[in-house]
Amino acid sequence: MGAEIIDGKKIAGGLGEANAARSEALRGAGIEPTLAVLTPGDDPNAGAYARSLVKAGTKRGLVVRTVELPAGVDPAGFERLLKEAETGAHGVLVLRPLPAGLDPDAVDFLVDPDRDVDGVHPVNAGLLALGRPRFVPATARAVHHILKSTGVELVGKRAVIIGRSNIVGKPLFQLLLAEHLTVTVCHSRTRDLPGVAREAEVLAVAIGRAEMVTPEYVKPGAVVLDAGYNWNDGLGREQGDVHPDAAEVAGWFTPVPGGVGPVTTQMLVANVLIAAERGKTR
Ligand SMILES: NC(=O)c1ccc[n+]([C@@H]2O[C@H](COP(=O)([O-])OP(=O)(O)OC[C@H]3O[C@@H](n4cnc5c(N)ncnc54)[C@H](OP(=O)(O)O)[C@@H]3O)[C@@H](O)[C@H]2O)c1
Repeated sequence: MGAEIIDGKKIAGGLGEANAARSEALRGAGIEPTLAVLTPGDDPNAGAYARSLVKAGTKRGLVVRTVELPAGVDPAGFERLLKEAETGAHGVLVLRPLPAGLDPDAVDFLVDPDRDVDGVHPVNAGLLALGRPRFVPATARAVHHILKSTGVELVGKRAVIIGRSNIVGKPLFQLLLAEHLTVTVCHSRTRDLPGVAREAEVLAVAIGRAEMVTPEYVKPGAVVLDAGYNWNDGLGREQGDVHPDAAEVAGWFTPVPGGVGPVTTQMLVANVLIAAERGKTR
């Protein structure tokens, strides 16, 4: 049979129009919604994400400033760059992988929670865990939004997430739990990963291993959501974490490219707009 292929670009187009209208309203009130992106200079995945944010954000009415993190930056130098970047910006995003010598957990604590549009600060992660979300990591929001857009009944269904990172797997767990799914989170130590994954009516994947999830991981008819983004120099394009052949077994399937990626970008733009709108009333 083969899955219904979910058109992430189309979903992103609708979100982008809504974002543009919100930007317009802010600009009408004299507020220029502004995002600062700190990016490691030498990582192709982060570089591609930063460029897509500049393009998509600018198109939807944001000012997007990028700041390159030098390879040898030390914690004090990083903190100085971060505070400079935050000045005048409603949202700030620190892309990974961080330059060697910076502790990712310490960096999450340094970001101003009111500008933390990636939802990494403990205050924002905690609010999400308490069911009172403010800034939710954009990729998790995107996967959740795409799932809802299928119209598939979710209550009581079995979901499996592969990957437990703070920016995808864990926040997605909270979002799916709030939809009353029964959620299992898998990781590199999970035993019989294909067997656990095959129990899922909703399978969400964020591991960073190109096309690792093959058809044997997929329950027939499942909704398969692939957050993976793995640049392949040889192919000259990105690959997902799910093998395209899995679409033969799934009921719904997000392709890479053109699935979760473009929706994530619009969710990040939406988070900047939330920050700018909150700023208006502070
Ligand atoms: N579309 C977007 O805009 C977007 C945004 C962010 C990330 N991504 C992509 O999403 C993917 C994940 O990113 P991330 O930042 O969440 O990655 P991460 O921080 O490296 O976390 C990867 C997770 O996958 C698990 N894992 C790794 N190898 C595994 C294996 N062989 N079997 C089972 N689990 C395994 C790890 O388990 P342990 O915890 O046990 O180590 C970890 O929990 C990447 O492809 C990334 O490029 C896409």
